[in-house]
Amino acid sequence: MSKNGKILTPLIENDCNLLENYKKFKGYEAAKKALKMSQDEVIEEVQKSNLRGLGGAGFPTGRKWAFIPKNSQKPVYLVINCDESEPGTFKDKYIVSSATHVLIEGIIIASYAIGAHTCYIYIRGEYVEPARRIEAAIKEAYDAGILGKKVLGTDFNLDVYVHRGAGAYICGEETALLNSLEGKKGWPRMKPPFPAIEGLFRCPTIVNNVETIAYVPPIIQNGPKWFADMGTERSGGMRFYGISGNVNKPGIYELPVGTPLREMIYEHAGGIPGGKALKCVVPGGVSAPPLRPDEIDVPMDPDALAKIGTMIGSAGIIVMDEDTNLVEMLMASIRFYHHESCAQCTPCREGTGWLDKILQRMLSGGARERDIDDLYEIGDSIFGNTICPLGDSAGMVAKGYIDKFRGEFEAYLSKSIAAKSANSPELKKAS
Ligand SMILES: Cc1cc2nc3c(=O)[nH]c(=O)nc-3n(C[C@H](O)[C@H](O)[C@H](O)COP(=O)(O)O)c2cc1C
Repeated sequence: MSKNGKILTPLIENDCNLLENYKKFKGYEAAKKALKMSQDEVIEEVQKSNLRGLGGAGFPTGRKWAFIPKNSQKPVYLVINCDESEPGTFKDKYIVSSATHVLIEGIIIASYAIGAHTCYIYIRGEYVEPARRIEAAIKEAYDAGILGKKVLGTDFNLDVYVHRGAGAYICGEETALLNSLEGKKGWPRMKPPFPAIEGLFRCPTIVNNVETIAYVPPIIQNGPKWFADMGTERSGGMRFYGISGNVNKPGIYELPVGTPLREMIYEHAGGIPGGKALKCVVPGGVSAPPLRPDEIDVPMDPDALAKIGTMIGSAGIIVMDEDTNLVEMLMASIRFYHHESCAQCTPCREGTGWLDKILQRMLSGGARERDIDDLYEIGDSIFGNTICPLGDSAGMVAKGYIDKFRGEFEAYLSKSIAAKSANSPELKKAS
């Protein structure tokens, strides 16, 4: 940990995509330490650190690793999720581009712990430069004896491959990602079986987010208590929060889990431009239901956000000021889900289309009396009726905006219906 209390930020700021720079930060010392421990000891350290998945679902990382069957007769795989396509989320890009070697070191430790000798990094297709950088860092690591046969001079072997996606948000969902890696259509699979039992090529597989794995070396280096103590009772450490929208200083901020949302917006991100009032905040990427200004004292930790009906997701915070039209904001979010629905499940395929159509109609002067209730009911009927959470997100988000800002939606609807009546040819004829 650096003097300013950050863990990964100094690596990003010091171009640790280059091995010589990473070595100045005790690079690969944690992997050497882990390779001397037993696999179970490494898993136990990660469990004790309270590291929870930082890709969206927040599942405890050590517990997930422990699901891998012991002495599996099949190969075991580690897959790193760098699909990063959730609007409002842009943290993994920085880690992959500029703290690249800590990710590779985390991959070595995680692979050793679960007994994997092959790792795939699945990276969003649009991330051309980050993909180039990780490929260059992997080559450096092979050349230095850090990857390949006899990793760091031990008996452990590990190969790492980069696989570029082709621009589909759904391929961030772990089982769709696995299908895509296998060369199939990126459709989510039914669970169970979970990937830890039957994942890539039907073999035991752990899928972890980039940032999750990047925190593993510092945990091994400094001990689990050090990491656990920084966060909340059930969620350890720090994490990156991507703050965007109407703030003076948008960017990524590495802060302890549990930092209040208000502090993030008004202190770290410099408040709202022009001193305008806050109207709405999305706390965890567009899939997280929105919050009102009176809810921003919430600590940014998975449990506290779940308690108030939203989620931390990928910690992409989108701030909206008083001038934001929330009907437009909801339309932009729903449009995204409609476009990105893989169309496998009818409620998601049709439901996101209906939501999109109603919102488009409301915004183009064709609003109908029932529109708000229809949005709510359609959202409700998608939720819980699809294979993966993409449909759930669309449903939750539609309902979330209406629950929290119904007054604004009703006012918009009344104005829109009144304008429609005033322009109606029948009314004009009659007057
Ligand atoms: C539609 C959808 C998109 C997702 N996109 C991502 C993504 O881009 N990156 C990511 O790490 N997890 C994403 N997830 C979550 C993954 O399914 C999975 O929970 C995660 O990669 C597990 O890693 P973690 O335990 O380290 O968080 C997505 C989930 C859904 C439903």
